[in-house]
Amino acid sequence: MEFRPLHPLFVGEVSGVDLSRAQTPAEIAAIEAAIAEHAVLVFRDQRITDEQQLAFSECFGPLEHTGGTGISKPGEQRLHPAFADVSNLDVNNTVLARDSRRRLYSLGNMLWHSDSSFKPVPASYSLLSGRVVVAKGGETEFADMRAAYDSFDADTKTQIEELICEHSLIYSRQTLGFDDLTEAERDTMRPVRQPLVRTHPISGRKSVYLASHIGKILGWPVPEARAFIRDLTEIATQPAFVYRHVWQPFDLVMWDNRCTMHRARRYDATQVRDMRRTTVAG
Ligand code: OGA
Ligand code: MN
Repeated sequence: MEFRPLHPLFVGEVSGVDLSRAQTPAEIAAIEAAIAEHAVLVFRDQRITDEQQLAFSECFGPLEHTGGTGISKPGEQRLHPAFADVSNLDVNNTVLARDSRRRLYSLGNMLWHSDSSFKPVPASYSLLSGRVVVAKGGETEFADMRAAYDSFDADTKTQIEELICEHSLIYSRQTLGFDDLTEAERDTMRPVRQPLVRTHPISGRKSVYLASHIGKILGWPVPEARAFIRDLTEIATQPAFVYRHVWQPFDLVMWDNRCTMHRARRYDATQVRDMRRTTVAG
């Protein structure tokens, strides 16, 4: 197994791995050590089935199930419940209409975020497999929140050290003007509290835990909190801290949500984009 850096700060491309077969404990340990260092790993040309993606993902811990949050309903799901369906396809594999509620809801992925920061136990790793990718646009961008933290001046570091934020899907969807949520949906989206500064359990590095899901800082007036979070996000996502992944068919990208943010980029909504994510609970 070999790791080649794809960016000066983070992101490694992994070669010499076949994710369609079982990995040995030593291989899993090597991947865990590599992702603790690089935060994002790119595996090229992995023609895996859903079962193989589940088996590989489970090597890193229990998986999240997507039911119970968001707007997905039982019976409308195309994939096994341990998958987040990041595609633009409905249960019949038909491209979602431009004004489809699910599509509009999923446009929240175009805002910088960390997966499941709105859950009481947020995600550690996400694994996204590009089964059908678009020829133009539809890239995924990643930002290194350790580099962001390191770049803050001493006053900022002191100011944010003890802050607690409220995260909810309601806030990120609100930002895009998607607010026709039912009471039942709002109920599954109740805000949770997360520290703004996290220390990574393996690397020991500090990072700033930002996401567009943040709507409040405990003890702060809301507009001041939102303006401050915007300022921090602007610094944290400056071009030097960002890697843009241009998808090739069957890429699998694995990232650590504890120390990165990511966002999807725009693409032609009439084209099929079949991306399937498994998510390891933190
Ligand atoms: C995700 C996500 C971005 C993309 O899978 O969690 O945010 O480019 N995806 O589809
Ligand atoms: Mn995401």
